[in-house]
Formats: sequence, structure tokens, C-alpha cells
Amino acid sequence: MVRGTSLRLVLALVWLIASAAAAFAADDAAYQRARDNQLYSQQGAKTCLTCHNTPPVNLILQTPHAVKGDARTPFAQQGCETCHGPSADHASLKTVDGKLILPPILFVKPKIEGVPVSPVEARNKACLSCHESGLRMNWEGSQHQQNSVACSTCHNPHTPKDPVLVKISQPEVCFTCHAQQRAESYEYSHHPIREGKVVCSDCHNPHGSPGPRLLKEFTVNETCYNCHADKRGPLLWEHQPVREDCTNCHTPHGSNQARLMKEPLNFLCSSCHSSEANSSGGAFGGAHSIPTGPVGSSFFAAELATQRKCLNCHSQIHGSNSPSGAFFFR
Ligand code: HEC
Ligand code: HEC
Ligand code: HEC
Ligand code: HEC
Ligand code: HEC
Ligand code: HEC
Ligand code: HEC
Ligand code: HEC
Ligand code: HEC
Ligand code: HEC
Repeated sequence: MVRGTSLRLVLALVWLIASAAAAFAADDAAYQRARDNQLYSQQGAKTCLTCHNTPPVNLILQTPHAVKGDARTPFAQQGCETCHGPSADHASLKTVDGKLILPPILFVKPKIEGVPVSPVEARNKACLSCHESGLRMNWEGSQHQQNSVACSTCHNPHTPKDPVLVKISQPEVCFTCHAQQRAESYEYSHHPIREGKVVCSDCHNPHGSPGPRLLKEFTVNETCYNCHADKRGPLLWEHQPVREDCTNCHTPHGSNQARLMKEPLNFLCSSCHSSEANSSGGAFGGAHSIPTGPVGSSFFAAELATQRKCLNCHSQIHGSNSPSGAFFFR
């Protein structure tokens, strides 16, 4: 008997909670509908600016988006609502159950309780309606798109100098998520990224790429040749790993070895040129050998461990154009 009562009590409680939640959801749905079914306000940006005429919001007036004379811009179309969506009811401060109807597209979590930021898809759609081509040709399926990174995570249209478009401030935007590259940028040898001379987007297209790792070009090497054209070749005597992939020996972001080497030079060369493979002798004994000490002696090892030993003779490590450069001496 006692059991039956408590069971009914529990059931009643469950019903109460469930119906309260349903009512809540109904409220949310009505509110959401009201947000989504607005018309465009009559006077566009002018209407919005009567209330939102403070920085940072009004700084958009100093950006390319606010150029009315350019028919392609939001301000030549529906003004603020080109991005934020039709918001007439918002602009006349209409409410649902006392809650101010906000514009349908919100790029950051609004101050009003219980209204979420718009889904990434919806936010990106607002931008892609105008910016689908060009650099964004490969956006769909790109690493950033797949991982729900929004355009507005990197871009802020309400600032006259979008930090991600400025060389010196761009890396900071990327580093907020890419901590490893931040760490690498502090290593002894690095591309002058923090110095503002090279930016991430010199090598990467953050909007998507047909190549690997969001690289700007189809391959690593094509990307490097954009600035290191002298390494492009073709050369009379090619060093095979150079033609294959610069990252056989270099790391792009930072290294504690000089010249962005992946590992200490002696290990690096030896990783491909073992003494067994060099049957003709080469560096590991034979005719030329490293000047002193027999192979296998501790002296030889010490010589090998010394940086640049191989390069003292094989100085044209990227390949040679000299008729007598087969071994990259000149
Ligand atoms: C009559 C005044 C008024 C007008 C006109 C107006 N707004 Fe608002 N807006 C508000 C108020 C009040 C809020 C809620 C408080 C806040 O967030 O600042 C708000 C909030 C917003 C928000 C969410 C901001 C946040 O962080 O919470 C956006 C986006 C917005 N308005 C865009 C617009 C757009 C676009 C227009 C023009 C179609 C517009 N507003 C017209 C008063 C107005
Ligand atoms: C090019 C598209 C675009 C246009 C045009 C635009 N906005 Fe925004 N708006 C954004 C983005 C993106 C953000 C988020 C910025 C951020 O990350 O801080 C934003 C942020 C805001 C916010 C802060 C809160 C929020 O939830 O988004 C307000 C308020 C706002 N805009 C109002 C306006 C008003 C008013 C206008 C017209 C004068 C306008 N916007 C025009 C894209 C736009
Ligand atoms: C109605 C079309 C339209 C919409 C919507 C739009 N843009 Fe633009 N955007 C433009 C035009 C036009 C330019 C100027 C291009 C030019 O000068 O070549 C521009 C320029 C830009 C630039 C370069 C700014 C600069 O300072 O050079 C960025 C970044 C940008 N938009 C990002 C965005 C983002 C992010 C969104 C969505 C929040 C967005 N746009 C929505 C039309 C649009
Ligand atoms: C991970 C950061 C990041 C994301 C996400 C991102 N961008 Fe960009 N965007 C950049 C960088 C960096 C540049 C500068 C590229 C350059 O100079 O080559 C740029 C440049 C632009 C430009 C100006 C150059 C041009 O193409 O005319 C526009 C417009 C633009 N982005 C729109 C968008 C849109 C739309 C989205 C979302 C679909 C988006 N961006 C997402 C980082 C980003
Ligand atoms: C909001 C966080 C965020 C920001 C900001 C961001 N990224 Fe990313 N990025 C990611 C995520 C998540 C991935 C996919 C997962 C991964 O590979 O780490 C990714 C992937 C990448 C990749 C491809 C990695 C691979 O393994 O293929 C590159 C390159 C990259 N980002 C460069 C950039 C650059 C350049 C910027 C600045 C212009 C930037 N990112 C800004 C989150 C971010
Ligand atoms: C000099 C060209 C260059 C610059 C500048 C550059 N990267 Fe890269 N990045 C590369 C190459 C090449 C790879 C591919 C490396 C590989 O496959 O081993 C890469 C790979 C990546 C990856 C994938 C993870 C990894 O290490 O393989 C991320 C994330 C990344 N870069 C982010 C960034 C960010 C953020 C910046 C700016 C701070 C940046 N990159 C600047 C050339 C560059
Ligand atoms: C946007 C131009 C640019 C691109 C693309 C580029 N580099 Fe560089 N690279 C530089 C600059 C600038 C320096 C610094 C030159 C200096 O300090 O004299 C540099 C230096 C180097 C150095 C010498 C570093 C040192 O410590 O002396 C190496 C190695 C290198 N780059 C390899 C690469 C590789 C590999 C790639 C392709 C993944 C690449 N670079 C792509 C501009 C570029
Ligand atoms: C077989 C290993 C190896 C490969 C592969 C390789 N490099 Fe190097 N690179 C080196 C070595 C070793 C040095 C250091 C030379 C020195 O200290 O004199 C160097 C130095 C450099 C330097 C700085 C000095 C200079 O010559 O300008 C640049 C830039 C460079 N490499 C770019 C590249 C590019 C671009 C590629 C791909 C096309 C590439 N490297 C592929 C081994 C390699
Ligand atoms: C990623 C592997 C790799 C690395 C690292 C590497 N090499 Fe090579 N190297 C090769 C290959 C493959 C060949 C072509 C061998 C052949 O044709 O028999 C070659 C050829 C050579 C040759 C010409 C020999 C010949 O028989 O034509 C010399 C000299 C040489 N490498 C020196 C070096 C030095 C010095 C280093 C270190 C700075 C180095 N290599 C790093 C793979 C590598
Ligand atoms: C004192 C100068 C000198 C130094 C230092 C040196 N080499 Fe050599 N290397 C030569 C000479 C000379 C040849 C043979 C050329 C010939 O056969 O005509 C050669 C040949 C080679 C060959 C091609 C022949 C073979 O055996 O396959 C490779 C690979 C090579 N060296 C790699 C290295 C590596 C790796 C190092 C550093 C550990 C190194 N060398 C250090 C002078 C040197």
C-alpha cells in the first residue's frame, strides 16, 4: 500500500517535470519561430543604428562591407540584415513572453538569457552566400569546415582592421587553437612568423585546399618554391629527397636545429645513407671517408656527431648544376 502511494507520487512528479519541460520547449519553439519569421526592417542599417550606434558594432561603417556604392556589399543590399537575417520585429522591440525577439542569425552568444548562438552552419551560410568562390572553393570538406570552425571564429566584420588579415596579428588568431605551432615558433630556428615577415597564410589556405594539410599549393614543394625559387630546379644533379619533399629534411614551423633541420645533420644524412648502403665506401669508410679514424672507431663516431661534417664536402645538398657536381661538392 505504502509502496503504491510512493509509486504514484513518483509518477506524478515525473509527469509534472515532463509537462513543465514540454511547456518550456513549446515556449522555446514559439520564440524561435518568431525569430525566424521576421520581415526585413523598412530602413535597413539606418533603423538598426538608431539603437546600435556604438563601437564595436558601428565600426562596420569603416569596412569594405559598408560601401553602399558597391552593389556586391551587404550595405548595398539589406544592410545589417544581409548577415543577421530579417529583423523587423526585433527592431521594433517586439517580445514573446516578455523576451525580446532577437535577429535570426547571432554570431556570438547573446546577452539575453537562454538564447543560444546560431549553429555554425547557419552562421557560415550568411557569409558563403557572397564568398563561396575564390579562396573558398575548397571550403566544403576542408579540415576547418569539418571541425565546425566558423568564418566568424577567424573574421570579425565589425572591426576596420580584421586581425586575421594583418600579418603581425594573424598568427595569434591561429595559435588560439594551434598550440603546437605556437611552441614551434619559439624554437631556435623558425620562419620569421612572429616577426611579421611570413604568415601562416603564406603557406596555408585556411579555407581549404586540394592538397594536403591545407597547403596553398598541391604539394609541399610547390608551396616552398613560391619563396625559395632557387630550390626549384631542374638541376643537372638532383638530390632525390629534395625533389620528393622538402620535409624529408626540414620542418616548416620551427626546430632547435639550425636551418629548420628535422634532426641533427649527422643523424639526418645517416638515416638514409647507412654504411651498408654506401657499399662503394663513401662517408663510411672507403676511399674518401671522413678524414680521420677508421670506421667503427670512437673517433669516427665523434666526427660523425660533429655538425656539418657531411656538408663540408657535400655542400650543394639541394643538388648541383656543375658538370662535376654529381656528389654535390660544388
Ligand atoms: C529600438 C532599439 C533597437 C533597434 C532598432 C535594434 N536593436 Fe538590436 N538590440 C536591441 C536591444 C535592447 C538588444 C538586447 C540588449 C543587447 O544585447 O544589447 C539588442 C540585441 C541585438 C543583438 C544581439 C546582441 C547581443 O550580444 O545580445 C543583435 C545581433 C542585434 N540586436 C542586431 C540588430 C539589428 C541587425 C538591427 C536592425 C535590423 C537591430 N538590432 C535593431 C535594441 C535594438
Ligand atoms: C558582414 C556581415 C555582418 C554585417 C553586415 C553586420 N554584422 Fe553584426 N556581426 C557579424 C558578425 C560575424 C558578428 C560577430 C562578431 C564577433 O565575433 O565579435 C557580429 C556581431 C554583432 C553584434 C554583437 C552580438 C551578436 O550576437 O552577434 C551586434 C549587436 C551586431 N553584430 C549588430 C549589427 C548591426 C547593427 C549591423 C549593421 C549596422 C551589423 N551587425 C552588420 C556580422 C555582420
Ligand atoms: C552581400 C554580400 C556579402 C556578405 C553576406 C558578406 N560579405 Fe564579406 N565582402 C563582401 C564584399 C563585396 C567585400 C569586398 C570585396 C572586395 O573589395 O573585393 C567583402 C569583403 C570581405 C572581407 C575582406 C575585408 C577586408 O578588409 O579586405 C572579409 C574578410 C569578408 N568579407 C568576410 C565576410 C564574412 C566573415 C562574412 C559573414 C559574416 C561576410 N564577409 C559576408 C560581400 C559580402
Ligand atoms: C581559420 C581561420 C579562417 C577561417 C575559419 C576563415 N577564414 Fe577567411 N581568411 C583567413 C585568412 C588568414 C585570410 C587571409 C588569406 C590570405 O591573405 O591569403 C582570409 C581571407 C578572407 C577573405 C578576404 C580575401 C578574399 O578571399 O577576398 C574573405 C572574403 C574571407 N576570408 C571569407 C571567409 C569566409 C566566408 C569564411 C567561412 C566560410 C572564412 N573566411 C573562414 C582566415 C580564415
Ligand atoms: C577555432 C579553432 C581554430 C582556429 C582559430 C584555427 N584552426 Fe586550424 N584547425 C582547427 C581544427 C579543429 C583542425 C582540424 C584538426 C587538426 O588537424 O588539428 C584544424 C586544422 C588545421 C590545419 C590542417 C591540419 C591537418 O592535419 O591537415 C591547418 C594547416 C590549420 N588548421 C591551419 C590554421 C591556420 C593557418 C589558422 C589561422 C589562420 C587556423 N588554423 C586557425 C582549429 C582551428
Ligand atoms: C613556410 C610554410 C609554412 C608556414 C609559414 C606555416 N606552415 Fe603550417 N605547415 C607547413 C607544411 C609544409 C606542413 C606539412 C608538414 C608535414 O606534412 O610534415 C604544415 C602543417 C601544419 C599543420 C598540421 C600539423 C602538422 O604539423 O603537420 C598545422 C596545424 C599548421 N601547419 C598550422 C600552421 C599555423 C597555425 C601557421 C602559422 C603560425 C603555419 N602553419 C605556418 C608549412 C607552413
Ligand atoms: C612566404 C615565403 C616563404 C615560403 C612560402 C617558405 N619560406 Fe622558407 N623562408 C622564408 C623567409 C623570409 C626565410 C628567412 C630568410 C632569412 O632569415 O634570411 C626563410 C627561411 C627558410 C630556411 C632557413 C631557416 C634558417 O634558420 O636559416 C629554410 C630551411 C626554409 N625557409 C625552408 C622552407 C621550406 C621547407 C618551405 C616550404 C615548406 C618554405 N621555406 C617556404 C620565406 C618563405
Ligand atoms: C636532404 C636533406 C634536405 C632536403 C630534402 C632539403 N634540404 Fe634545404 N637544407 C638542407 C641542409 C643540410 C641545409 C643547411 C645548409 C647549410 O647549413 O649550409 C639546408 C638549408 C636550406 C635553406 C637555407 C640555406 C639556403 O640554402 O638558402 C633553405 C632556404 C632550404 N634549405 C630550403 C629547402 C627547400 C625549399 C627544400 C625543398 C625543395 C629543401 N630545402 C630540401 C638539407 C635539405
Ligand atoms: C630521405 C633520405 C635522404 C636523406 C635524409 C639524405 N639523402 Fe642523400 N640521397 C638519398 C637518395 C635516395 C639518393 C640517391 C641515391 C642514388 O641515386 O643511388 C641520395 C644521393 C646522395 C648523394 C649522391 C650520391 C650518388 O650516388 O649519387 C650524396 C653525396 C648524398 N646523397 C649526400 C647526402 C647528405 C650529405 C645528406 C645529409 C645532409 C643526405 N644525403 C641526406 C636520400 C637521402
Ligand atoms: C672529406 C670530404 C667528405 C666528407 C666529410 C663526406 N664525404 Fe661523402 N663523399 C666524399 C667523396 C670524395 C665521395 C666519393 C666520390 C667518388 O666516388 O668519386 C663521397 C661519396 C659519398 C656518397 C656517394 C657514394 C656512395 O658511397 O654511395 C654518399 C652517399 C656520401 N658521400 C655521403 C656522405 C655523408 C652522409 C657524409 C657525412 C656523414 C659524408 N658523405 C661526408 C667526400 C666526403
